[in-house]
Amino acid sequence: MIDTRWWQRGIFYQVYPRSFQDTDGDGIGDLDGIRRRLDYLAGLGVDAIWVSPIYPSPMADFGYDVADYCGIHPMFGDLEAFDRLVADVHARGLKLVLDFVPNHTSDQHLWFRESRASRDNPKRDWYIWRDPAPDGGPPNNWISNFGGPAWTLDAASGQYYYHAFLKEQPDLNWRNPEVRAAMHDVLRFWMARGVDGFRVDVIWHLMKDADFRDNPPNPGYRPEEGDIGRFLQTHSADQPEVHDIIAELRRVVDEFPDRVLIGEIYLPIDRLVAYYGEDLAGAHLPFNFQLIYASWNAESLAALIEEYEGSLPRGGWPNWVLGNHDRPRIASRVGHDRARAAAVLLLTLRGTPTMYYGDEIGMENVPISPEDVHDPWEKNEPGLGLGRDPERTPMQWDASPNAGFTAGRPWLPVAANFAHCNVAAMLDDPFSILALYRRLIALRRVHPALQTGSYRPVTAHGDVLAYQRELGGESLFVVLNLGGETQRGIALPDGVAEGHVLLSTRLDREEKVTSGFSLRAHEGLVIALSAAT
Ligand code: GLC
Ligand code: MG
Repeated sequence: MIDTRWWQRGIFYQVYPRSFQDTDGDGIGDLDGIRRRLDYLAGLGVDAIWVSPIYPSPMADFGYDVADYCGIHPMFGDLEAFDRLVADVHARGLKLVLDFVPNHTSDQHLWFRESRASRDNPKRDWYIWRDPAPDGGPPNNWISNFGGPAWTLDAASGQYYYHAFLKEQPDLNWRNPEVRAAMHDVLRFWMARGVDGFRVDVIWHLMKDADFRDNPPNPGYRPEEGDIGRFLQTHSADQPEVHDIIAELRRVVDEFPDRVLIGEIYLPIDRLVAYYGEDLAGAHLPFNFQLIYASWNAESLAALIEEYEGSLPRGGWPNWVLGNHDRPRIASRVGHDRARAAAVLLLTLRGTPTMYYGDEIGMENVPISPEDVHDPWEKNEPGLGLGRDPERTPMQWDASPNAGFTAGRPWLPVAANFAHCNVAAMLDDPFSILALYRRLIALRRVHPALQTGSYRPVTAHGDVLAYQRELGGESLFVVLNLGGETQRGIALPDGVAEGHVLLSTRLDREEKVTSGFSLRAHEGLVIALSAAT
């Protein structure tokens, strides 16, 4: 059997800390809140918790604008609260992964305050400063990911600084070895405190073109993508030099035993897989977001799975993601019936799954009225549907006021459906989507073929998608009806006489099947196969 690491076998669960559990009544989640809900997470069966940023921050981008990499925002707690969290996570056999945001700091970070103080400040070159274009405008045509120019003029020193996101998020200059050394020490600081790894924010952005050439126009631009879509990001991201930077980060992570490096990367598959690095010396898990963008039909899903499986470098470990704090929730993208089939895909495809908090109870995007908008992207480019508040609303724990999230006023509205869509109600309902997630996660433990077995495509025809997972003598058959009509006459794989249904997305059948069985609308099955005799 192959030797596998915890981050290959396990399941990651993303906590958006502002929205998970509040304990001090300020309407914003905190570290003690996460700690209070660890029994729930352990009971769910996940293995590792990734927590979005908890550092001191002016919150211009809700923590992705870090003002001190080695502290905790008082709103979330303090370092003692953090140490208590680490200890309690580890006491349950779970792992804790932090969000590392190396591409940019807050404009309130001391480094940037020094950098902007004068052209000859020793930290000037820690950020990206350029002279104006001859006409006095920005140095090139690069656009901020949140709309508008990516350059802001600092009147006092007469130069522009670059920010791939908000002007409150100046980009660090990763070509400067002092920046790299300082950031390596940040990783060491947290690993020494017991952190098991990092999810690295926008890792493909770290290096920019050395000559700051203009980006070419995007011929396929659609206005609903926002301003950023007007140009291809040819020179502003995904530069060849980034892989040396990541290999260095990986060497630092490897100074501590058994840690994981995950990269946030939105790129086509052929570019994405380069982030495993030469000889797999890059990210352990370059996030694979293909399911977030997939058209929900058997043929296109099969094609993307095949393309991904076929593109992985030798020994590169796959991973799958259905949602996160930046993208509409799966239940809202595909509807509740299909969200169940999606759960089966996430938890039975080959590779490490990452879940987003609340998806296990089928949380939906919550409509946000204009006065409740927090997300700066929505504020900059309103009305295009780009805002991310809808997928960041408070976790729905029970039917008590504010869904048990806070005794105060929640920072974002709680979903209207919380009285029935909540953890407590679904724990009592053996047919709930939460029950399905718990069963799927438990199945992965009992059947290691689901964790680390091989993947073999079987069918993608009409609305039916099927594949096999195999390990040792065990063979599991996963078959999904992605459409709304009953599918009849489904065959078991060649040479297999009989199977045993271990799980249906409807949680109402565990029975023997032979070729010719049916799948109800949107039903998915996990079937244990017995060889023909
Ligand atoms: C990543 C984060 C997102 C943030 C951006 C800038 O994409 O996931 O929430 O706004 O980086 O840090
Ligand atoms: Mg709080």
